[in-house]
Amino acid sequence: MSVADTELPGLRCPACRLPLDRDAGSLRCATGHTFDLARQGYAHLLLSKQSSAHDSGDDGEMVRARRAALSAGYYAPVVDAVSDLVSGWAERAGRPARLLDLGCGEGTVLREATERLLDQDGVRLPGYGVDASKRALRSAAGSDKRNLYVVASTYDLPLDDASIDVAVKVFSPAAAGEVVRVLRQDGIAIAVNPGADHLIELRERMYETVTSRPPGDTALQGLPGMHPLHRGEHARGVVLHAELLRAVVGMTPYRWSVSPAQLDALAAAAPLTVTTHFVVTVHVAMGS
Ligand SMILES: C[S@@+](CC[C@H](N)C(=O)[O-])C[C@H]1O[C@@H](n2cnc3c(N)ncnc32)[C@H](O)[C@@H]1O
Ligand SMILES: [Zn+2]
Repeated sequence: MSVADTELPGLRCPACRLPLDRDAGSLRCATGHTFDLARQGYAHLLLSKQSSAHDSGDDGEMVRARRAALSAGYYAPVVDAVSDLVSGWAERAGRPARLLDLGCGEGTVLREATERLLDQDGVRLPGYGVDASKRALRSAAGSDKRNLYVVASTYDLPLDDASIDVAVKVFSPAAAGEVVRVLRQDGIAIAVNPGADHLIELRERMYETVTSRPPGDTALQGLPGMHPLHRGEHARGVVLHAELLRAVVGMTPYRWSVSPAQLDALAAAAPLTVTTHFVVTVHVAMGS
C-alpha cells in the first residue's frame, strides 16, 4: 500500500486554503479545486502562477547527480544527525513525530530518517517531503512509500497551521515565517547548512579567490516564538573518486560556474579527499 492510499491530514488547497480531501485519485477542496495525487505517492500542489518556485526547482540532471552522491553515503553525517534529533524529540514527547522535509530533493534524508525510526519503535506517521521539482519528487516517491511527497513552494506551504512536529531543511530555501506557522508548539526546526570549510578543497581548485561561507542558519533566530536549542558541526574528510566528484559538483550551484574542461581536469585529479562540513541548528517553537 502506498501513502497515497492512507489518510492525509493537514493538506490545504494552495488556491483557497480550504482543507483538501481525497477524492479517488485526486485531492479536492470544498471550492472545487482539484489536484493530482499520483499513485507513486506524490501530489502536485504547485500553482502555475507560482513561477519563481517552478524556476528554482532542480532539473533532471541535478536530481540524478544528487541521488548518485547521496546513495554513495555523501550525506551520512546529515542523516545521522537528523535521525538522532527526530528520535530524541519523539522520545521526549512520548509520541511519534509528524515530519516535514522542506526542499527534500530526491528524498534520501526523509526516507532514511523514517527507516531508522521504524527500526526503533515500529510506529510512524506519514511525513511530508515538499519540493518545487517534480522530477526530484518522482525520484523520491519511487523509493519511499511511507511519506507523501508534495510538489509545492517552501515559501507558501499547502499545510495546516500547527500540524508538524519536526521540520527539516537541508541546504534548501524556505520562508522562516512558514516554518513557524506549520510547527506545533514544542515542535522543532532542524536546519542543515554548509560550514566554512565545506568542500574547501574543491573550491580552491575551481576558483581563484575562495570566500568563506557564513556557517549556520540565522533565519529562525530572533523570530517570535522560536528559540535556539542546539548547534552542532560535523566535519570529515571524504574521498571522491572521479564519478562521485562529478556527482558532487553536479548537485551544487558549482555546476553552473565550472566549465566542462575544468570539470574534466578535476575528475582527472581524482581521487581527491575533500572536507564536508555541515552545520546543524535546531530551534524549538515555544508559541507566541
Ligand atoms: C540544494 S537542494 C537540497 C535538496 C535536499 N534537501 C538535499 O539536501 O539533498 C535544494 C532543493 O530545494 C528545491 N527548491 C528550490 N527552490 C524551492 C522552492 N521555492 N520551493 C520548494 N523547493 C525549492 C530544489 O528543487 C532542490 O531540490
Ligand atoms: Zn481550493
